[in-house]
Amino acid sequence: MSDKLWGGRFETDITEEVLNYTQTTNIDARMARYDILGSIAHLLMLKDTEIVDREDARAIMTILLDLHDKATRGKLELDPRLEDVHFNIESAVIKAVGKEIGGRLHTARSRNDQVVTDTRLYLREEITQIAGDLLDFVDDLLLRAKENVNTVCVGYTHGQPAQPITFGFWLTAYASMYLRDIKRLMQALDTVNQSPLGACALAGTSFPIDREHTATRLGFSQVLIHSLDATSSRDFVSQSISAFAQLMVNHSKMAEEIVVWNSFEFGLVDLSDAFCTGSSIMPQKKNAVVAELAKGRTGRVFGALMQSLTMQKGVGTGYNCDLQEDKPMLWDSIDTTRSTTRVLRNQLASAQYNESRALDLCWKNFSTITELANWLTKQHDVPFREAHEITGQLTQKLIKSDLAPDAFETCAEFLLAKGIKVSIGELEEILDPKRVLARQTSQGSTGPDAVADLTSVLATQSAELRSNLDASIQLKNQTIENLLSEADAFSGASEPAPMFML
Ligand code: ARG
Repeated sequence: MSDKLWGGRFETDITEEVLNYTQTTNIDARMARYDILGSIAHLLMLKDTEIVDREDARAIMTILLDLHDKATRGKLELDPRLEDVHFNIESAVIKAVGKEIGGRLHTARSRNDQVVTDTRLYLREEITQIAGDLLDFVDDLLLRAKENVNTVCVGYTHGQPAQPITFGFWLTAYASMYLRDIKRLMQALDTVNQSPLGACALAGTSFPIDREHTATRLGFSQVLIHSLDATSSRDFVSQSISAFAQLMVNHSKMAEEIVVWNSFEFGLVDLSDAFCTGSSIMPQKKNAVVAELAKGRTGRVFGALMQSLTMQKGVGTGYNCDLQEDKPMLWDSIDTTRSTTRVLRNQLASAQYNESRALDLCWKNFSTITELANWLTKQHDVPFREAHEITGQLTQKLIKSDLAPDAFETCAEFLLAKGIKVSIGELEEILDPKRVLARQTSQGSTGPDAVADLTSVLATQSAELRSNLDASIQLKNQTIENLLSEADAFSGASEPAPMFML
């Protein structure tokens, strides 16, 4: 007989090679605390439904609380020979109180409902962390946007100078994208925060368990009622990674702009030395490696999403070991998303923005010409299509003469030849990037007032999301605290003092 917890029907043990190929202990390590919390909730339920005798439950609880204490202090040691975290915890209990008592913990439970319970509890923690970090980033962006509603920046389409925008407009664009990312994280959290515990192996159980009991005590918002679905499905994993992947898209977009803007040729941003590294041969180099890596690491999260989807598609209903492959890349996608969110926030906070360079570019790069066309339509009643044609020809003439729109006299002469009288003073007014910006007043536009409005609209959204997130974190933490006090009180560690002592 094998000495494994499943050893009864086996004549020989698995080989070292098979153990190494199949075991997940090291990967599971970060779920150890959640495995113990799940076991504590399960045991309280077994005790309350009288499936396990109070005295036996008390003995097991004492060990579980001790293991929980060790896990929170990082002192819990797991043995890879025991295959996974679930067997490690159960074996530790059996080792401490014997099989006669310890062997009762696994009544009406399977590793199949356990593993998804642990993964969901851990993922819940991580999603709330990432959402909180991202809200901090959004608040930074909005604060800086408020200070930069008048700051000139260059707006590009097709990588070509398009129209002047304000730096505040650019910052609020990312705040606006990130707020949707936070909503997606919260939607994933809704899917994640459902309790599969009590689904057992696949079919439920003949024991009179109470699934609401464990779900409530673990802070799940509801029971994931269908046992076969609860144990077979990993859509909560792919939905979460999908939210991470979309967030990484936005991080990568920002990182790309930062790399380009930080270049000598653009010079719109000067990154702090603390976020760049040098070259082993070229002494002048200051490379934006953090931003480059943020772009590069995006592929890891996309890869995790593809891996997670592919892993699920070949599994019908009922647990298959294929599903064990959900964790390594999920972990990596969590770590990548969290570290990228934090480092990009810090990078931007310490980066200098160079408005004078932007102003210079906007005088020279023809990005104010659209506004001249608008002016001809507004002030001289030229149909816009014709105004476009005229200012297009003017652009061509200026480029051929190696001039820019600030060659006011050439511009005035050209327009006069077309029968449009515009003074030099007017041209100065029309083509000055700052004044171009001041005239952008449509809702959601780049003008200072519109950006100030955007900032406050987005700040309201951010505050609302923050209060929802804080409420769910508070509820989750309070619930786990209550679970531990209930377990503590039951195990006798903090039994009320006898009457005569009062
Ligand atoms: N280590 C497994 C996993 O991560 C736990 C569930 C194993 N269940 C089983 N019947 N082999 O998915």
